[in-house]
Amino acid sequence: MRTSLIGAAAAAALAFAGLGSAADAEKWKSRSIYQVMVDRFARTDGSTTDNCDVSRFCGGTWKGLMNHLDYIQDMGFTAVQISPIVKNLEEHTAVGEAYHGYWSVDNYALNPRFGTEKDLKALITEMHKRDMLLMVDVVVNNMVQAFDNVIPPKVDYSKFNPFDDKKYFHPYCNVTQWENSTDYQKCWLYPYGVALADLNTESPAVVNELGSWIKGLVSNYSIDGLRIDAAKHVNDEFLPKFVAASGIFALGEVLTGEPEDMCRYQTRGLLPGMPNYLEYYPLNEAFNGGSLLDVADLRNKAATSCNDTTVLGSFIENHDMPRFANRNDDLALAANAMTYILLNDGIPTVYQGQEQHFKGNSTPFNREPVWGAGYNKTAPLYVLTSTLNKVRNHAIKLSPNYIGKTSETLWADVNHLCLKKGPDGSQIVFCINNKSSKGSSYTASIGGFKANDKVVDVLRCKTVTADGTGNITMYMGQGEPRVYVKATTLKDTGLCTETQEDGPIEEKSGAAALGMTGGLLFAAIFGWGLLFA
Ligand SMILES: *[C@@H]1O[C@H](CO)[C@@H](O)[C@H](O)[C@H]1NC(C)=O
Ligand SMILES: *[C@@H]1O[C@H](CO)[C@@H](O)[C@H](O)[C@H]1NC(C)=O
Ligand SMILES: *[C@@H]1O[C@H](CO)[C@@H](O)[C@H](O)[C@H]1NC(C)=O
Ligand SMILES: *[C@@H]1O[C@H](CO)[C@@H](O)[C@H](O)[C@H]1NC(C)=O
Ligand SMILES: *[C@@H]1O[C@H](CO)[C@@H](O)[C@H](O)[C@H]1NC(C)=O
Ligand SMILES: *[C@@H]1O[C@H](CO)[C@@H](O)[C@H](O)[C@H]1NC(C)=O
Ligand SMILES: *[C@@H]1O[C@H](CO)[C@@H](O)[C@H](O)[C@H]1NC(C)=O
Repeated sequence: MRTSLIGAAAAAALAFAGLGSAADAEKWKSRSIYQVMVDRFARTDGSTTDNCDVSRFCGGTWKGLMNHLDYIQDMGFTAVQISPIVKNLEEHTAVGEAYHGYWSVDNYALNPRFGTEKDLKALITEMHKRDMLLMVDVVVNNMVQAFDNVIPPKVDYSKFNPFDDKKYFHPYCNVTQWENSTDYQKCWLYPYGVALADLNTESPAVVNELGSWIKGLVSNYSIDGLRIDAAKHVNDEFLPKFVAASGIFALGEVLTGEPEDMCRYQTRGLLPGMPNYLEYYPLNEAFNGGSLLDVADLRNKAATSCNDTTVLGSFIENHDMPRFANRNDDLALAANAMTYILLNDGIPTVYQGQEQHFKGNSTPFNREPVWGAGYNKTAPLYVLTSTLNKVRNHAIKLSPNYIGKTSETLWADVNHLCLKKGPDGSQIVFCINNKSSKGSSYTASIGGFKANDKVVDVLRCKTVTADGTGNITMYMGQGEPRVYVKATTLKDTGLCTETQEDGPIEEKSGAAALGMTGGLLFAAIFGWGLLFA
C-alpha cells in the first residue's frame, strides 16, 4: 500500500515535471529577453562613473539590477536573463577575474560579489511582481580553478563543492578536435589562466547530483528558465535528464552555424530551445558585405532541419561575440538588425548595451558597463527597441497564434528581407535592408494586408492605404527598416497617437546637411558666448 502510493506520487511528479516543461516552453515563446551580465549592469549605489577595468570585477550587483528594472521594463522586455549566481574563484588570473560568473567553485553558495541571498530573492520577487520572468545562466560542463601553466593542470579537487574528488571528473586532455564530439565533450576546454575541470556528466553520481542541485536551485529561488552554458560540451544524454530535473524551460548554448548539428538537439529531444546561432552568422554577414538572400536561405534550411524555430532565441549580440557595431557602427544597420531579431520567429534576446549601440570587440571588451551610457532612455536604439517590443507584445495579446505561426517571406533579395509575422488582423509586416544610413530614397511595393487596409509604419507613425490587391507602397530611404501594422490594432497601445500620410523620403544631403550647419552655427555662437563671458 505504502509503496504503491509512493510509486503513484513519483509517477505523478514525473508527469507533472514533463507537462510543466512543455507549458513553460509555450510561456517563454511569448516573452522577450534582456540579457544581463550582473557585474556590468548596475551598481548598488547607482553610480555611473565608468572607472572599470573590463577584465576585473566592476561592482554590479543584484540590488543594482533591481533598482534599474524600470530601464529594462520600459523597453518592453518581459524577461531577464542573468549571469551565473553561484560562488566563483576569487583569484586574479592571467585571463582576469570571475566577474562573468562562469568559474564555479561552489554550487551551493551564492556569489557574494553580487550580493546576499536576501538581495537575490528581493530582485526575483520584484521581477515577478512586474510579471517579468527570470532566466538564470548555469554551468554544468566544468568547475574551475586558477592554473599555473603546468600540464596536466594540478587541481585541488577538495576545494570544490560538491564535486570534491577527482572521480567526478574526466581525466585531463585538451580539446583539439572541434569536429569530433567525443573530443569536445570529454576533454577539457582550453587550459589558459584557468583550468576548466571537466565534469564526468556520463557518471550517474554526477547526473544525480546536478539534477538534485538544479531542482533545489529552481525551487529555492523561483527561477523560471535556464540558459545552459556550453551545452554542446557535455554528452547528449545528460541534457534531457538535467532539463527534466529542473522542471523548467531551458535555452542550451550550442555554438554552431550548421543546421544539422544544431537541430538534432531539438529533433532528438535533447534541449527545449537554443540561442539561434544558425541565423546569427549570415545575419551578421548581410550587414558586412554579404547578402540578405543568405539569411532567407538559412531560414528555409532551419525550417526543414529543426522542428520548431519559434523556440530558438533570436539574437545578434551576446557576451561572447564582438558587438554588432564593432564591425560597422552605422546606426541604420544596427536598427535593421534590432528590428529583425525582435520581430523574427523565436524568443528575442537583446544583450545589455546593444540598445546603447556599444561597440566593444571580443571578450572582455564586449562587456562594457551599461552605466557608462547613463541608462539613457532617449538613445535611438533604446527608443526603437521599446517600440518594437510594444508592437510585438500587443500582437501577442491580440492573437495567441502570433507566436506559433511562423513568418512568411514576402520579398527577399540581396538588399532586402520582408516578412509577414502573425495571422491576419494582428499581422506585422516588416522589411529590413542593408543599405546603411547612406541609402538612397526609393519606393517598393509589399503585400501582407487586405484590400484598402489602412496601415501604419510604427517606427515613423506614417500611414499608407493598401491597394486593391492588399499591397502597400513603402517609402524607403536612409537605410531605415519599416514595420507596418493595421491602424485599427494600435488602439490602446499608446503608439502613434498622431499619424501623417507617408510620402517620399528626403535624401540626406539636403535637409540633414542644412540641420548640421545650423547646429554647428549654434554651437559656435554658444561657445564664443562662454568664451567671452
Ligand atoms: C589546447 O588546444 C588548443 C587547440 O584546440 C591549442 O590552441 C592550445 O595551445 C592547447 N593548449 C594546451 C595547454 O595544450
Ligand atoms: C575523437 O576524440 C576521441 C577523444 O579525444 C578520440 O579517442 C578519438 O580517436 C577521436 N576520433 C577520431 C575519429 O579522431
Ligand atoms: C535550497 O534550500 C535548501 C534549504 O535551505 C538547502 O538545503 C539547499 O542546499 C538549497 N539548494 C541550493 C541549490 O541552493
Ligand atoms: C520536436 O521534436 C521533439 C522531440 O522529438 C518532439 O517532442 C516535439 O513534439 C517536436 N515538436 C514539433 C513542433 O514538432
Ligand atoms: C548589402 O548587400 C549588398 C549585396 O549583397 C552588398 O554588396 C553590400 O555590401 C551590403 N551592405 C552592407 C552594408 O554590408
Ligand atoms: C541621450 O541620448 C540622446 C540621443 O542620442 C542624446 O541626445 C542625449 O544627449 C543623451 N543624454 C545623455 C544624458 O547622455
Ligand atoms: C505586391 O507585393 C509583393 C511582395 O509582397 C510583390 O511581389 C508584388 O510584385 C507586389 N505587387 C505589385 C503590383 O507591385
